[in-house]
Amino acid sequence: MVNFETSQALKRLPDQFFATLIDKLNVYKERGYDTLNLGQGNPDQPTPSHIVESLKDAAENPEYHMYPPFHGFEFFKEAISEFYKKEYDVEIDPKTEVAIMPGSKTGLVELSQCFLDPGDIALVPDPGYPDYWSGIEMVGAEMKPMPLLSENEFLPDYDMIDKESWEKAKLMFLNYPNNPTGAVADAEFFERTIQEAEKHEVCVVHDFAYGAIGFDGQKPLSFMQMEGAKDVGVEVYTMSKTYNMAGWRVAFAVGNPSVIKALELIQDHYFCSIFGGLQKASATALLSSQQCVTELADTYERRRDLLVSGLEEAGYHVEPCKGSFFAWLRVPEGYTSQSFADDLLEETGLFVAPGVGFGASGEGYVRIGLNNSEETLKDAVSRFRDFKEKR
Ligand SMILES: Cc1ncc(COP(=O)(O)O)c(C=O)c1O
Repeated sequence: MVNFETSQALKRLPDQFFATLIDKLNVYKERGYDTLNLGQGNPDQPTPSHIVESLKDAAENPEYHMYPPFHGFEFFKEAISEFYKKEYDVEIDPKTEVAIMPGSKTGLVELSQCFLDPGDIALVPDPGYPDYWSGIEMVGAEMKPMPLLSENEFLPDYDMIDKESWEKAKLMFLNYPNNPTGAVADAEFFERTIQEAEKHEVCVVHDFAYGAIGFDGQKPLSFMQMEGAKDVGVEVYTMSKTYNMAGWRVAFAVGNPSVIKALELIQDHYFCSIFGGLQKASATALLSSQQCVTELADTYERRRDLLVSGLEEAGYHVEPCKGSFFAWLRVPEGYTSQSFADDLLEETGLFVAPGVGFGASGEGYVRIGLNNSEETLKDAVSRFRDFKEKR
């Protein structure tokens, strides 16, 4: 059997840190450990039934059994435009300012393929969602991590980026509400981002995956709400988290027409859009009452309150968690993020994501998912407490 040699591009792909972690969790499960998985980012609740019903109806429509239009159905792009108007009071031209994607993971990789050449730099949040790295490595470009530190409320400090990096930078990835820190961005930060992006001609990609999940009465800001945002970038929005549709693989980008055009061009070569029924049901989700979204955010907020207060009472420190569905816990003294995660799994069966898997500045933290029931989180808090008390 020939063991075929892969391309250099494939060899450059970073290790899938989290796939390795899951293998480890499975080993513990097989050994009979009573494990609790708080390490992954999969929404735990079903898709609201009116969206499922819409897909069922659409599945019977022969129009959707044929190839869909390459760039997606007009009705879906119009629904996206209407959603941005309704939710954020932002005008989006459905013809030139929307690209449909089979999940934002895909789009985020494609954006690097669209805009980076070897030698170019992409500015990435550190810690950050690891899929930003994949596209950058594949095209042989360089990554410049922007540390997200507690003292800066987990926003990058643009003054720390050197002149040469700004000159070589072509893309910047941002993500608020943030995975993994739970931080949110304010208007002042986005304004500064636009100024820097204009000055250095860097394309901003704002990953708004957790746009619907803000706490304490604060609705997360869309980057598109800022004046000039469309001049310098796009916002990537996924159906996965807002509507518990992670398995459906539907997302879209809105904003700068030249970026949208590039995304549609690369997708002409990879895909033929996505199944029309998915587009129909996604349009239903965007245009219907958003009550299910409000309820979802409330559920995550209750879980956050339960987890954070329980952990603080047990003597841990959790960073303020203002959005997304993650809590960012500082590991106790004497541990690295990996050694803490390892010992916790070994002694309590709790599986959390070591911060270092999200980048060097994630060292000293672990990420805990709020995508678990209150009962599970209560159980987790008591295991965290036992772990601490044994020391
Ligand atoms: C920050 C962030 N961006 C993007 C994604 C990918 O979302 P999807 O590919 O389901 O659209 C995730 C998923 O966990 C995420 O956490």
